Amino acid sequence: MAGQRYHLSTYGCQMNEHDSERMQGMLETLGYDECDEPAEADLIVLNTCSIRESADRRLETQLGNARRFKTERPEVVLAVGGCWAQSLKQEVFERYPFVDVAFGPGQVDQLGEFLVSDSIAASGHFEFDGFTADLPMRRTQSASAWLQISVGCNSKCSYCIVPSTRGREVSRPFDAIVEEARELTRRGAREITLLGQNVNSYGRDLRPDRRSFAELLAAVDAVDGVDRLRYTSPHPKDMQADVIAAHVELASVCEHIHLPLQSGSTKILKAMRRTYSRERYLERVRMIRQALPDASITTDIIVGFPGETEDDFLETVDLVEEVGFDGAFTFVYSPRRDTEAAQMAVDLVGREEASERIGRLIEVVQRTALERAQRFVGRELDVLVEGPSRTDPSRLRGRTRHNKAVNFSGLAEPGDLVVVSIDAATSTSLSGQASLLASASR
Ligand code: SAH
Ligand code: SF4
Ligand code: F3S
Repeated sequence: MAGQRYHLSTYGCQMNEHDSERMQGMLETLGYDECDEPAEADLIVLNTCSIRESADRRLETQLGNARRFKTERPEVVLAVGGCWAQSLKQEVFERYPFVDVAFGPGQVDQLGEFLVSDSIAASGHFEFDGFTADLPMRRTQSASAWLQISVGCNSKCSYCIVPSTRGREVSRPFDAIVEEARELTRRGAREITLLGQNVNSYGRDLRPDRRSFAELLAAVDAVDGVDRLRYTSPHPKDMQADVIAAHVELASVCEHIHLPLQSGSTKILKAMRRTYSRERYLERVRMIRQALPDASITTDIIVGFPGETEDDFLETVDLVEEVGFDGAFTFVYSPRRDTEAAQMAVDLVGREEASERIGRLIEVVQRTALERAQRFVGRELDVLVEGPSRTDPSRLRGRTRHNKAVNFSGLAEPGDLVVVSIDAATSTSLSGQASLLASASR
């Protein structure tokens, strides 16, 4: 494979970003080099997402481009991995006959197998086995690293395609995760984000030694060099006191919890099969606030779910006001193939109405996030430097432990922890001046 070049595009969530890093590790091991332009690549890899219709549409454009490259240079190999590929399985080849190899999130290693085999026949791989995390790591590691703790999801949220694209939940062995945390810090990581669809159900399936997510947090926190520990996402139904206590007791566990709400209406939550009510959610938030008054809480919200009335929507708005989220990802409901909600024919919310609702919701989210962000102005916060600011390259960009993006002036290198005096806040970012290098986490 010497001299061969690949181009990889990643869509979707952190799981896909993690899986893409492993694909890169595998391709580097096979002797491939990365290139910036797909038009120049010998191998084009698309790591796909199918969470909403917009993700599918984006992909269709990319596949159209890839078809053009293949017409010009038929020797180009086109590989399609990820959740979209998994949701279509062999149909990928019926719809897009120019694809050479397609594989789901449980079969990332098959990309390597395909490349080293002599086969020129198109092949598809869609079983669920093994952890992508068992594949080789990339040669270079930035200060922030993903760490996969489980695959799949056992929830049955009625709108969601993920259980069918990522399979049943399987926890990775405890020791393998801790060992990987050690390896990541040896390679320069100081911030680790534990990844799973429902991280706080981690370990229930481990036999004979059941382990809990809180135990895992403690073990990773104890690894030398882990200055910051994060995780995503917890499910509100499984968010327990021991995990909240870990934020208080373990120095590296950051003051941020992403707690996906989806809706503030108990009726809609039920139709979504989220298995908690509005009150249960609020109770979890109270528990968090009591133990961690300063922590940031962020969320995901869907508007326009089938059957959502104006009153249901107003319950969501009201809950956002009551909690005061530090940030929220808001989505218009998108029907997904083979999900329960896609079969619901009752009181569908029209597109116009849904986009009008999301507009109103975003206004409230931005206002509450801005109000919350004011508490940082005048404070000195530890910031992990990521690189130059996107808006002003003479400044730097990084993140606080609360997961707020910060643009600041000062001298520092990516991976440094610096203390920044915060002098202004918007709903999504902070700005300030770096004063000195921070010696360790607080
Ligand atoms: N496992 C995670 C994340 C799942 S996907 C969790 O449960 O939190 C990320 C977000 O996408 C979800 O939280 C949800 O808000 C949104 N989402 C998922 N399916 C969707 C759909 N069909 N339409 C609109 N938004 C969706
Ligand atoms: Fe989807 Fe629900 Fe599983 Fe999250 S918990 S991945 S929203 S089914
Ligand atoms: Fe992630 Fe998209 Fe799959 S959000 S789990 S890559 S459907």
